[in-house]
Amino acid sequence: MSELRIYPDSGSERHQRFVDAAEIAAQLAEIGVRFERWTADKPLTPQAGQEEVIAAYRADIDRLMKDNGFRSVDVISVSPDHPDRKALRDKFLSEHVHTEFEVRFFVDGRGLFFLHIDDWVYAVLCEKGDLISVPSGVRHWFDLGEHPDVKAIRLFSEQSGWVAHYTNDDIAQRFPLLERFLAEREMGPV
Ligand SMILES: [Fe+2]
Repeated sequence: MSELRIYPDSGSERHQRFVDAAEIAAQLAEIGVRFERWTADKPLTPQAGQEEVIAAYRADIDRLMKDNGFRSVDVISVSPDHPDRKALRDKFLSEHVHTEFEVRFFVDGRGLFFLHIDDWVYAVLCEKGDLISVPSGVRHWFDLGEHPDVKAIRLFSEQSGWVAHYTNDDIAQRFPLLERFLAEREMGPV
């Protein structure tokens, strides 16, 4: 189940928590972030890569490209046994920005997005069927977890928009990563 937590950016454990998709969308809309529940029901093999995922979701991709003027699409597909899982995880784990607006559509698995806006950090656990946007220039990081299991379609206007510009802020270390985030959920609200 998708979940949003809003923390002060000082890294306190105190947070507001939302699990209802409409409430998550409403909270994120206030900061210019689009969040939608889509249907992700196309059959994919566990090892499905870029071509297979793009072919399965061609109609959704075409609509997103047309509506948003995207010209570039790729797929991040990481399975728990991916040989480069640690390097892939580390790459996304530090706060960075992109010069372009990005949309991600999770077609399988999950991942934890952190968006840093003003004095707040919005942690969004995205799961299969979730679509989320990251506006250009918004500081963010993303955790795949120790045992990554995700397939997400990423759309950008230009290929160069994918380049991460790191902020060199170690803020990500002050927030729970995927495993702890999930464990806290099982313990109930903090
Ligand atoms: Fe990013």
